[in-house]
Amino acid sequence: MYTLGIESTAHTFGVGITENDRVIANERDTLKPLSGGIIPREAAAHHFRLAAEILGKALNKGGLRLKDIDLFAFSQGPGIIPSLKVGASLSSFLSKKYGKKLIGVNHCVAHLEIARLYTGLRDPIMLYVSGGNTQIITYYNKNYIVFGETQDIGIGNLLDKTGRRMGIPFPAGPEIEKLAEKGKHYIEMPYSIKGMDVSFSGIETFVSKIIGRETKEDIAFSLQETVFSMLIEASERTMAYCLKNSLVITGGVAANKRLNEMGRKMCSERAAEFKEIPMEFAGDNGAMIAYTGYLMRDYNQKDLDIKPKFRTDTVEINYR
Ligand code: ATP
Ligand code: FE2
Repeated sequence: MYTLGIESTAHTFGVGITENDRVIANERDTLKPLSGGIIPREAAAHHFRLAAEILGKALNKGGLRLKDIDLFAFSQGPGIIPSLKVGASLSSFLSKKYGKKLIGVNHCVAHLEIARLYTGLRDPIMLYVSGGNTQIITYYNKNYIVFGETQDIGIGNLLDKTGRRMGIPFPAGPEIEKLAEKGKHYIEMPYSIKGMDVSFSGIETFVSKIIGRETKEDIAFSLQETVFSMLIEASERTMAYCLKNSLVITGGVAANKRLNEMGRKMCSERAAEFKEIPMEFAGDNGAMIAYTGYLMRDYNQKDLDIKPKFRTDTVEINYR
């Protein structure tokens, strides 16, 4: 069974194809503005402009034509409205034109499922870290339960905003990672964790005040060490509480080597299993939407509207 998935919640337009539970194509393009952050209207224009090209590339890669696709899936939310509309309308058009079923997928659940697929871990605690989201998730009784989360901005957002203040264009995460490797001195920063929840606004303000006074390398290094420690501490507490002995990290920030190293170390100290996901599947991609659509293939969804505020814990996980 071939499933074609379209991702368009934010800055990335992606098309992925799976043959049953195997990814056979994963094409995408991310809008990288020259200055400032993502403007919703511009992201939608980017997706609209590149949609046909990326769709064509994915089909070529899979050696398929549109009429070969058995199921269409799209990212229903959460995300920014103009961007979401591009994927929703394109997938709805294709499903009608070719007379195939359409499945609406929760973007966050898709980040979780692709992580389970590529690590082979069946029931891990999942640290989901991206631009807009920072959540610690566990599976219980047909639901993904959010055990801990950020009380303000997402961690990727913190990195991107800090990067912008240091003159690094969006997305700043990869560049901050490189700078951090050259950092020498740890600058003490506000460490804000309450139970399983974390908060980043205090550290954001703190860092904005030391830019220009400390080196970019030391700031990047100290920022990473501080916020990643907060996340790994909360993940460890969740693992202990839920009696689960494995961890995966997923979402755009899961591409970060240092974060994975800290996760691996924490797990090895408590004799738990840790597996890294391939970098290709950390950030937003169409393959995760196709794969999750495939898992949901028997769902009878009535509501296929976009859901800009779609929460992870409101999705019924019937396939597990
Ligand atoms: P979501 O809707 O899941 O919040 P998103 O729109 O933020 O998704 P993702 O592709 O999942 O998109 O994540 C993008 C974020 O990942 C950006 O904030 C980016 O800076 C960050 N990122 C990417 N690579 C790295 C890295 N190597 N280290 C740290 N952060 C990274
Ligand atoms: Fe994402």
